[in-house]
Amino acid sequence: MPYDQMCAAWLDALRRAGRADILAIETSCDETAAAVIRDGRAILSNIVSTQIPIHARYGGVVPEVASRAHVEAVNAAVDQALEGARLRLNDIDAIAVTNGPGLVGALLVGVSTAKALAFASSKPLIAVHHMEAHISAAYLAYDDLEPPFLCLTVSGGHTALIETTASGESRALGRTLDDAAGEAFDKAARVLGLPYPGGPALDELAERGNPSSLALPRAKTPGAYDFSFSGLKTAFIQLERKGALAGVSHEDAAAAFREAVTDMLAVKTIRAAKAGGYHTVAVVGGVAANKGLRARMARECGANGLRLCVPPVPLCTDNAAMVGAAAFRRITSGKAAGSLSLNAEPAGYIV
Ligand code: KG4
Ligand code: ZN
Repeated sequence: MPYDQMCAAWLDALRRAGRADILAIETSCDETAAAVIRDGRAILSNIVSTQIPIHARYGGVVPEVASRAHVEAVNAAVDQALEGARLRLNDIDAIAVTNGPGLVGALLVGVSTAKALAFASSKPLIAVHHMEAHISAAYLAYDDLEPPFLCLTVSGGHTALIETTASGESRALGRTLDDAAGEAFDKAARVLGLPYPGGPALDELAERGNPSSLALPRAKTPGAYDFSFSGLKTAFIQLERKGALAGVSHEDAAAAFREAVTDMLAVKTIRAAKAGGYHTVAVVGGVAANKGLRARMARECGANGLRLCVPPVPLCTDNAAMVGAAAFRRITSGKAAGSLSLNAEPAGYIV
């Protein structure tokens, strides 16, 4: 029987069994990652090989360099993930991979590797959306978490408020109209002369600064739950050009910028949670690592009687464990699909 037909049958058998050890691969941007996840909740291994030192000298991710670095690192990452889980490829029940959105060359390395492993070992292949994976990180961190919940999804490429309904469907209530929150952090960090990736460095500076030291704008958007960061970014750049940042310490400037971003994110998230009658709010994606955002969300959720689920930092930034968790949800909900014709979808598809 052709592989694709077998794949559908294998996935159906896993859905009926309700359990699976999944080998997951993530190469959408600048982390080469592989992990083994049991039943969508237990992390048997989680290997992340970062390319940050490679891209740092260019001040940002260079797509061609990223693809090449993924090719060099992906097989070792898979081997280490299997070793860490004390399993062989044959023991694995399915192979999951992020196929979009992201850098096309980078995605293709993961997709080709997953297809080759799946075909060679006669295992089903499961394609996973990168943002769906970020949301699924919350299931790994909170054993009892089940939909419905509202999820603030904030990364270097995306910013959206996504509701996961009781039936497990995802729907965006709002999204950024321009830059992603991580992009805004990275650009502001560059203004302050911080090295790539700027977000974490700006966050550290902000810890020691006074957020009231600078008046920065908060964007108004036509959609109640949309976001916009380009006005804030431009205002920050203009202040620097006019020399207005010269009289303010880097710590204070960073704290004011972080306050403006977290303010916009937190206010709309809490408003949407209350309007939608949610009891649980999750915050996921690279920017969920931000200390200011974590503290602000903890405060606001506490004050509003909402349960806050924020994964530990290594599960917020890119990793493959979250891909395995998402793939398991796809299996149990009958939405898992894989085919040897699977391709990278760099622009992504609707969650
Ligand atoms: O989710 P992620 O690892 O990759 C994407 O899917 O984009 O997110 C990376 C983004 C980068 O923009 C990075 O600067 C930002 O997350 N980031 C942070 C922090 N840690 C990572 N931004 C602000 N504060 C942090 N602590
Ligand atoms: Zn990501």
